[in-house]
Amino acid sequence: MRETFSSSSGFALAAIGSAVGLGNMWRFSYLTAEYGGAAFLVLYIALTVFVGIPVLLAELSVGRGAGKGPIDAMKHFGGKRWSLLGVLFVVTGFLILSYYSVVAGWTARYGWESLVGSLPDNPASHFEQISQGIPAIIWHLGFMAITVTIVASGIRKGIERTSLIMMPILFLVVLGIAFYGSTLDGAASGYRYYLDLNWKAALRVEVFTAAAGPAFFSLSLGMGAILTYASYLKKEESITRHALVIAVADFGVAFLAGLMVFPLIFALGLSTQIIGTVGTENDVGSIGALFITLPEAFKAMGSSGYWIGTLFFLALSLGALTSAISILEVNVTSAMELLSWSRKKAALLSGALISLVGLAPAWRIEILGIMDALAGNIFLVVGGFALSLFVGWKSIESIRNVDLSPRLRMIWIWLIRVPVPIVLSVVTFYSVMNL
Ligand code: TRP
Repeated sequence: MRETFSSSSGFALAAIGSAVGLGNMWRFSYLTAEYGGAAFLVLYIALTVFVGIPVLLAELSVGRGAGKGPIDAMKHFGGKRWSLLGVLFVVTGFLILSYYSVVAGWTARYGWESLVGSLPDNPASHFEQISQGIPAIIWHLGFMAITVTIVASGIRKGIERTSLIMMPILFLVVLGIAFYGSTLDGAASGYRYYLDLNWKAALRVEVFTAAAGPAFFSLSLGMGAILTYASYLKKEESITRHALVIAVADFGVAFLAGLMVFPLIFALGLSTQIIGTVGTENDVGSIGALFITLPEAFKAMGSSGYWIGTLFFLALSLGALTSAISILEVNVTSAMELLSWSRKKAALLSGALISLVGLAPAWRIEILGIMDALAGNIFLVVGGFALSLFVGWKSIESIRNVDLSPRLRMIWIWLIRVPVPIVLSVVTFYSVMNL
């Protein structure tokens, strides 16, 4: 018998755990601040509602309908040829996890350094030292080892239990720090920088395309992660409700992360370090800014910074972990189905291979940037594009179990047939031109 999630909230927290991750914590708030504040929010929400949620529903429906991982699910509904899309999903997940775990490794290391009180005096050169080469490799391997251990323990005992414990902690910490930030002197200017309405900055084609990739990434779409989790969902669960809950929680945490980060930075007068970092080079610049500026802020805050810093990086690491297990699960489920491996063997071997490939992005941050631009931006969007064409035009059967009212269902099917593929192909075109 195939395992299932034991409860509705277990599945919800696991899927939210997949969605809420590093993407929410750094990319979203920087993009918002840079590209028009509240105007960007409107754009981002529109993308989530009209593109993200429809694809989310498609993944949930295909996964649960087939009760199989991505390759077998695509084969189930579309035959041999479409199983290639499942292969693309697996490859994309493989590549994303190999560098995602490097960034997660930095995060965990900063958490450790905050905890033992050894945040650096010179954060910029410190980041340069620890983000590449041997130090990055060690933390990357450590993070992968934990990820593999959880996934090897199974859906209920590993993934579900981890998410049930970690996600509430993450929510509380993010809420707590955001609240603390609101009491600081610089809070108002931080909020202004974050959310100041600027339509001119937001209404540009490149902003639209810059928002679409992250919106996809943030919801864990386009590579079968949600599809795979849904294949372990009981048949009586409402897919639509889960889709809504996942999207709202993911957006909520991203939004709160901005409310948490900017007051801290502005209260300590460090804002000049971050303004203008997004869009100047690739997004790696903004990762750096976060890993450099925030530790500096925590350090400058003295003893309260010690606590806030430790909790902040703890929350970030938990988010990264619950995301990483969902990516690894795509590979593990596929290996179990295709090669008839046991869960343990599949987790161990695919984890080892991913760790090995991850040595490259851990070695050089430029390689990390290239992998993110390719897999984290383009492959995902292409995967979502192909899936919505498949579901919309080729296999209506795959979405039989979507529990929308007839009217909403018609709207949804129309969305994944026409506007979603159009938007995603435009976005792909722009991203490829920008490589
Ligand atoms: N959504 C996660 C984040 O925001 C990352 C992630 C997990 C992901 N699973 C994924 C991204 C699948 C793309 C596809 O950090």
